[in-house]
Amino acid sequence: MSQPVLTYRLGDRQINRIGYGAMQLAGPGVFGPPADEKKALQVLRDAIESGVNHIDTSDFYGPHVTNQLIKKALHPYASDLCIVTKVGAKRDEKGNWLPAFSAEDLTRAVEDNLRNLGVDVLDVVNLRSMFDTHGPAEGPLEAPLEALIKLKDRGLIRHIGLSNVTARQIADAQKMTPVACVQNLYNLAVRHEEVLVDQLAGQNIAWVPFFPLGGFSPLQSGELSEVAQSLNATPMQVALAWLLQRSPNILLIPGTSSPEHLQENLASAKLTLPADALEKLNRIGQKR
Ligand SMILES: NC(=O)c1ccc[n+]([C@@H]2O[C@H](COP(=O)([O-])OP(=O)(O)OC[C@H]3O[C@@H](n4cnc5c(N)ncnc54)[C@H](OP(=O)(O)O)[C@@H]3O)[C@@H](O)[C@H]2O)c1
Repeated sequence: MSQPVLTYRLGDRQINRIGYGAMQLAGPGVFGPPADEKKALQVLRDAIESGVNHIDTSDFYGPHVTNQLIKKALHPYASDLCIVTKVGAKRDEKGNWLPAFSAEDLTRAVEDNLRNLGVDVLDVVNLRSMFDTHGPAEGPLEAPLEALIKLKDRGLIRHIGLSNVTARQIADAQKMTPVACVQNLYNLAVRHEEVLVDQLAGQNIAWVPFFPLGGFSPLQSGELSEVAQSLNATPMQVALAWLLQRSPNILLIPGTSSPEHLQENLASAKLTLPADALEKLNRIGQKR
């Protein structure tokens, strides 16, 4: 099995396929400040120093906290850094996630992202569908997309992406604007989107799975541990290497608040999964 190619095009940049997901840098429940701000800033700086040039974030993480940490740690930004944010939700005072799809909500979200990240233009903005917060569900995205296209025309956004969407919503969006990337839940164990991954690969569109390690309950299974042990790697490295080998359009945004885990995750680029390991791992997803 040959090593997968480790860069892919996102918008107008060729970026490293292992990026960093900043969501869990905020406090518990992605609400409020982190327990250890110094460590959060360190993880962000280490990521960039180790070659990460793709960070996934949102101004509704915290809210505002994650973007402010990114700015504090990394501004002025490296010229090759691609920061991808998302809009379409907001938080109430208890931290609940609410839809925020009106033109006014979206304009405010883009302005908040620009201010808190300290940039004049956002590289990529994903419209996060909220018809069902837990997974893609049909519903019209024309009006919020029109609002985002207007903000793009004003020069505030370079590229538009989509998150938590169906194949139909992607096709409808493509009639209105180029779609730079799609971000839905997908990992070794949650594989409802197999067809979509390949369809988007065929269109040279980046697939940026969220929860690549399982999210708030990191992936765990006997088979995964067995494969990891046989390759002298950790289960998380195997889960990331599986995604890298699954399709060349997959960009990884594993999240961590630990400098050690960050290095462990980045090292998954060096792991090649042999055919027998892939066969065992593929059975994990088929069970669900
Ligand atoms: N579009 C959407 O709706 C949506 C939804 C959710 C997330 N996202 C994006 O996806 C990104 C990734 O999601 P995520 O961070 O929630 O989930 P994730 O990357 O699947 O997993 C993160 C969890 O795995 C742990 N972890 C990371 N590396 C590890 C390692 N080497 N060994 C053991 N544990 C490890 C982390 O704990 P430690 O901190 O202890 O390492 C954390 O609990 C987010 O940052 C966010 O940007 C998008």
